[in-house]
Amino acid sequence: MNEKRSTFGSKLGMVAAAAGSAVGLGNIWRFPSETADGGGAIFIIVYITCILFFGIPLMVAEFLIGRSSRANAAGAFHKLAPDTPWKWVGRLGVLTGFVILGFYMVVCGWTVDYFIQSVTGSLKEVSDFSTNFNTLLANRPKQIGLMAFFVLLTAYFIFSGVQKGIERSAKIMMPVLFLLLIVLVVRALSLEGARGGIDFLFKPDFQEVKSTVFLDAMGQAFFSLSLGMGCMMTYASYFKDNTNLTATAVQVSVLDTLVALLAGMVIFPSAFALTTNPDTIVSELVAGGPGLLFITVPGLFNQMEGSMIWSAMFFLLLAIAALTSTISLMEVVTIYIQEEHKVSRKKGLLFVVIGVLALGALSALSPQFFNILDMASAKIMLPVGGLFISLFAGWYLDKKIVQVELTNDGKIKFGISFLKTYSFILKFLAPVAILLIFLYGLIG
Ligand code: TRP
Repeated sequence: MNEKRSTFGSKLGMVAAAAGSAVGLGNIWRFPSETADGGGAIFIIVYITCILFFGIPLMVAEFLIGRSSRANAAGAFHKLAPDTPWKWVGRLGVLTGFVILGFYMVVCGWTVDYFIQSVTGSLKEVSDFSTNFNTLLANRPKQIGLMAFFVLLTAYFIFSGVQKGIERSAKIMMPVLFLLLIVLVVRALSLEGARGGIDFLFKPDFQEVKSTVFLDAMGQAFFSLSLGMGCMMTYASYFKDNTNLTATAVQVSVLDTLVALLAGMVIFPSAFALTTNPDTIVSELVAGGPGLLFITVPGLFNQMEGSMIWSAMFFLLLAIAALTSTISLMEVVTIYIQEEHKVSRKKGLLFVVIGVLALGALSALSPQFFNILDMASAKIMLPVGGLFISLFAGWYLDKKIVQVELTNDGKIKFGISFLKTYSFILKFLAPVAILLIFLYGLIG
């Protein structure tokens, strides 16, 4: 039965696919506005601490659950813990994937629109970027059309399969993404006055510490690393037996963090260099919030020479990053329906496409619905999922399985002390910390 299940073909492809899932709108859209809000360098220090202490161990936990069971997110718990309520953790994960797709796809549609506006040059004519964005928001049929285009594009890669669709696309798109990002960073850093942005990102000002920074950073770390809903678990079910799980989790996390920092190094130096009023730039960026990318950033590009080249590159970058993430989300839901409801991949995919189109249309039609999906997934469903995944790996899962998976059955020499640290984190540290974000999310 296992023989028929797909695996990734090469090590490079596997890392590209997992990194492709992690790198997305979270890095380029969410990270810069969280960083502005969290006081710059301070936020980044706390964020990196969260990646090291919670992100990587939780990713390893998802990896070992996925690879040892070689099943979809719900099937994994079903196999490792038969006849227990644990399977609900997997089911919640699948539902979360569906909910995230329901609003994420709408943002993907905006990205496509801004790419088109850049290529056709119409973005160059814009004088009020806030109105420009609101005009798009008010045009419901256009938003639905763009969203539907992105859903079908994603579905095409899912339909092509694990190796030919997911892996091959990631192997091409991830290097392109890095290349575009580096070009944009060089452009931003060469602007006069870019220095202020770099200082904001890397020189901590300890007087600026906000009380919520720790919890905000942790939420951002989970979202950015695709943790808490069985997404990395599903990808790990396609890993080969000789994949080093710990090393892969470290590589994916480093790549993800690098992209977030590089995106910051495009946005902040441009903002500091091109603003007319440097004193108010941070508060402007904070106020920009989620609109930062569609209002503030095009405004910045418009002040550069050759503006449409830079903004076309930026929005293409954004679309590519988003696409490898929507592929991972759609795969979670598709393989679940395929395996648990025993239908063909094509039929499973058809259900998913119809469902996502319906949710996406509702969130394009109603900003309230969009916000509910956004909030419910990031603030409730992901933390709850992450909490139970770490409890499962820390307390329930057989220590033998953990050891076999982490050492590839003894082939990877592994410090016992690391294993101990790892189990301490999953048993106590991560669950307590996640519980805190969750409570904070409910109160705040
Ligand atoms: N990590 C992606 C981003 O940064 C989004 C994403 C993909 C995700 N799969 C996920 C978030 C699973 C949470 C869970 O845009």
